[in-house]
Amino acid sequence: MTTAEIREGFLRYFERQGHLRIPSASLVPFEDDPSVLLTIAGMQPLKSYFLGQAQPPAPRMTSSQKCFRTLDIDQVGRTARHLTFFEMLGNFSIGDYFKDDAIRFGFELSTEVLGFDPEQIWITVFEGMDGVPADDEALEKWVEMGIPRDRIQRLGEADNFWKAGPTGPCGPNTELYLDRGPDFGPDGGPVTGTDRFLEYWNLVFMQYDRSADGALATLPAKNIDTGAGLERLAAILQDKQTVFETDGFRPLVAWAEQASGRGYGTDARVDRAMRVLADHGRAMTFLAADGVRPGNEGRDYILRRIIRRAVSEGAYLGLEPTRLTGLVDVVADGYGDAYPELVAQRSEVIDTVGAEAEQFARTLEQGTRLLEEVLDRSRSAGVISGDDAFRLHDTFGFPLDLTRDAAEEHGLQVDEDGFDRLMGDQRDRARAAGRKGAGVDRQAAEGVASGSPVTQFVGYDQLEVVTTITAMQPQDGGEALAKLATSPFYAEGGGQVSDHGWITGNAGSAEVLDVIRLGDDQVLRLRVDRKSTRLNSSHANISYAVFCL
Ligand code: GLY
Repeated sequence: MTTAEIREGFLRYFERQGHLRIPSASLVPFEDDPSVLLTIAGMQPLKSYFLGQAQPPAPRMTSSQKCFRTLDIDQVGRTARHLTFFEMLGNFSIGDYFKDDAIRFGFELSTEVLGFDPEQIWITVFEGMDGVPADDEALEKWVEMGIPRDRIQRLGEADNFWKAGPTGPCGPNTELYLDRGPDFGPDGGPVTGTDRFLEYWNLVFMQYDRSADGALATLPAKNIDTGAGLERLAAILQDKQTVFETDGFRPLVAWAEQASGRGYGTDARVDRAMRVLADHGRAMTFLAADGVRPGNEGRDYILRRIIRRAVSEGAYLGLEPTRLTGLVDVVADGYGDAYPELVAQRSEVIDTVGAEAEQFARTLEQGTRLLEEVLDRSRSAGVISGDDAFRLHDTFGFPLDLTRDAAEEHGLQVDEDGFDRLMGDQRDRARAAGRKGAGVDRQAAEGVASGSPVTQFVGYDQLEVVTTITAMQPQDGGEALAKLATSPFYAEGGGQVSDHGWITGNAGSAEVLDVIRLGDDQVLRLRVDRKSTRLNSSHANISYAVFCL
């Protein structure tokens, strides 16, 4: 079965069982659900129905939901199945059917639609915990469906009690596994934890609401929530070792092969790069089509990180950064039938990805030079210092995971505690700078601003510009006030933290600590780099590269 056939087969089966087919909700969760940055499961957009806060369009629903899980971004490409973006097939009952029908549907769809041999199906059920009994009902129903008792195993809270987050709807679950046979490991069922037994579907008996103190309240109704990863099902049904060899991913890998002139399946490091491009290609396209834009916070930062990783893995294959936009076309062509927003948003997504890739390419070029120096001098200690990792991040926008990847390739570690400490210090400095900028510096700033034209603010479109310093005045403690012709720095009002970043040029570099707002105009408060004492007012009208972080 192709991926599209599996998706359609699943949804049609549940339509025949009286379910309403609902379209996938956005990857960006509803505003009233701050529990996650991105949609992580098919039940997420239906939470208010489970909680009894809203009336569902139908008591039985089915969907193929766009999902994104960020826990394992670093693992993507290194394993057979880790993905960031994936599609989750599910059927949902809001106070309608419960365990009996959910299990019957699970068995029927597995054997009749997906064609699995019932002899190969294994089941796990919840073994119970304080306040929630062992799920003997589910066990007996599976026996009734013909699964022998010795292929039903009990597992604890970590495996068989599902929750969308620390609080909210949750309940015991029963999971369906497929035994791939002795070639994949020893006998013994899912409790052995080997790759021989692949979990392919999770049926959740959603009957509790967990509060912040961990207490379980009973939901207004007994509900069903299920989740089956489409990519994993495709790998099983297409008999592929990894999801990247299924029909859903093949065109993306083929694009990477064609663009780089390298073949998949001959070199482990090349394969990893191609898998990252395949996963991140889908991830960035779906995220941007749902309106996420690269930035420094929350889900925006996730998109930025994904695009930057893709640029750097693409660079490993010798690809120019802007070529990544080719992946958007492959994704829109392959998934546009199921997710029409990909086609509708195609050109905006291409612009978004292209702009971020291009911007990062410039920082990558400079960062790579510094990275090579850092790798060289770190070799003897075996570890990249927190200071160096921070400088790469802070000055060149090098995400920590790229430094970590590079370190690993050279057999080095990264001092991440040191890095975290410096990040914390920087946040404190920015806060203090914000407070100071609101008051004492104002008069001095007005003095600096008075002699030169109003700064043109371009920060809505650009985070980096090449511009000139039009005025500069040294201050105490290695600081200076400066004015730019064009500035990407946003000056917050009301003493809040404003943008920060760097100014660099042949005459030296300076950290932008604060941006002082003067009506429509602005003045920057800088810390002049210890090595850049040459940067002074005589450097007005020389070009500088200015980075807003
Ligand atoms: N909500 C069920 C699952 O994610 O497995």
